Amino acid sequence: MRKKIIAGNWKMNTCLKKGQELAEKINLYAKSNTNIYAGIILGVPFTHLYKIVNTVDLTKISVAAQNCASEESGAYTGEVSAGMIKSTGANYIIIGHSERRQFFSETDEIIAKKINLCIKNELFPIFCCGESLQERNESKHFEVVEKQINTGIFHLDKFNIEQVIIAYEPVWAIGTGVNASPGQAQEMHEYIRKITSEKYSKAIADKIPVLYGGSVKPDNAGELFKQPDIDGGLIGGASLKADDFIEIIKVV
Ligand code: PGA
Repeated sequence: MRKKIIAGNWKMNTCLKKGQELAEKINLYAKSNTNIYAGIILGVPFTHLYKIVNTVDLTKISVAAQNCASEESGAYTGEVSAGMIKSTGANYIIIGHSERRQFFSETDEIIAKKINLCIKNELFPIFCCGESLQERNESKHFEVVEKQINTGIFHLDKFNIEQVIIAYEPVWAIGTGVNASPGQAQEMHEYIRKITSEKYSKAIADKIPVLYGGSVKPDNAGELFKQPDIDGGLIGGASLKADDFIEIIKVV
């Protein structure tokens, strides 16, 4: 059985002190409870990575960056490479979040390069995909997500695809308070597993975690995570409040 994963995406929130306090609260919970069934990942700003890696018990909580450069190193002022992220002790990188696609013009091709740099640096990518409201209204959601997945991660070989976590995040559900219904999310997750199985094998598709993201809160997490193909969540807003994030972990 796939283990459930609860990943927080703090986005561009918290200064270092607040971020550390948040990580400390979640760490305290993780260390003092033996009945936690979810893998916990905190997706934090670059500036927080090293500090938070050294704050949490890494046997209970993993740390993720939210992006990396599409080049390995060199004259790219202001960029942060996958190798630099690895050197902080973080183990994951969120790649291709819809906010990066929308506000920073990240294409599927750029995202594929970043995925390769994650793999090269032995970091696990949390690969995000999802359609806009217009695309859903035009019934193009399966097609859009399939294209994102095809270009973003399906060039990987059988071994490396297993290093990837997929996060389905419909753009219309992110930060809006309107989550996809459990049925809508399950339908897409099942589709993602189907195309993964066709591309690789059923055994591989059965192993890859597919998280749902978009307005997950303590009160809707239960119904979403109950769906057979939903392996946990990528949590934005609710990951900034320790109590809410812990409630979501407890749902698993
Ligand atoms: P949200 O964000 O939970 O605030 O909707 C999810 C995400 O963007 O990963």
